[in-house]
Amino acid sequence: MLKLHEVSGGYGRRTVVDDISIRVDQGETVAILGANTAGKTSLIRAILGLLPRCSGRIEFGCEDISSVPAHRRVDFGIACVPEGRHVFSEMSVMDNLLIGAYHRRKDVTRQDIDDCFRLFPRLAERQAQKAGTLSGGEQQMVAIGRALMARPSMLLLDEPSHGLAPLMVAEVHAAIAEVNRRGISVLLVEQNVSSALKIVSRGYVLESGKVAVSGTTAELASNDDVRRTYLGI
Ligand SMILES: Nc1ncnc2c1ncn2[C@@H]1O[C@H](COP(=O)(O)OP(=O)(O)OP(=O)(O)O)[C@@H](O)[C@H]1O
Ligand SMILES: [Mg+2]
Repeated sequence: MLKLHEVSGGYGRRTVVDDISIRVDQGETVAILGANTAGKTSLIRAILGLLPRCSGRIEFGCEDISSVPAHRRVDFGIACVPEGRHVFSEMSVMDNLLIGAYHRRKDVTRQDIDDCFRLFPRLAERQAQKAGTLSGGEQQMVAIGRALMARPSMLLLDEPSHGLAPLMVAEVHAAIAEVNRRGISVLLVEQNVSSALKIVSRGYVLESGKVAVSGTTAELASNDDVRRTYLGI
C-alpha cells in the first residue's frame, strides 16, 4: 500500500533520511523505532512531501506520489498525527474534530463524529471543552480523532505516547489497534518500544537515518541489539 524505495533526503546539505526502503501493506500496523535524532520525524515528513530535499520513489496504492505536492497527498488517503499533537487549544474538542474533515469539502456526517466518540468516549464527555484545557493523553485523542475525520486509508502517527503516563500510553495504543481493526493501515513512530511491539506486526529500527534492523514483532523482540538498546533487557 505504502512503499518507499531508496528514499533519501534532508535539510540543506545535511542528509538525515539515508537510502530508506520500507513498506506498509494494506491493513498492517508497522512501527518505525529509533532513538532521538534517528530521523523518524524526517521520514514521516518525506512521506508527507514536507522534507525540503528528498529523492527516491514513494508509492501509495498503485500511484507514484514522489512528486505530488504535500497538500494533495491527503487526497490519496494519507493522514498524520504530528509529533507534539498540535491541537488548537482555544477551540473546543468538537471544533478540533470538525477541522479534520475540512479538506473533504463534503458534509461531515454524524457518523464520523460518532465513530470518533466510540473510539474515545471521554472526548464525547468533553466535546464542548477547550482542547488546551485537556490532559496530554486527551489532547492526543483529539489529534488522532481529528486525523480520522479525514477518512484516511493510512494513518501516520509520530510518537503518540510521548510524555504520557503508562496507563494513558496503553489507552492510546489500544485505540490505535482499534483504528487498525477498522481497516486503516498504520505507520507508528515510537520510542516506547515495548508498548509499540504489542500492537504492530512488523517494524523498522532507524539509526542515523538508515534502517539498521527490520523484522516481524517476534524477530525484533528477540534481536539482541533491540533488546539491549530499546527494551533494557
Ligand atoms: N528543520 C530542520 N532543519 C535542519 N535540521 C533538522 C530539521 N529538523 C530535524 N533536523 C535534524 O535532522 C535529524 C533527524 O531529526 P528528526 O526530527 O527526524 O529525528 P527523530 O528521530 O524524529 O528524533 P526525536 O525522537 O527526537 O523526535 C536531527 O539531527 C535534527 O537535528
Ligand atoms: Mg521525531
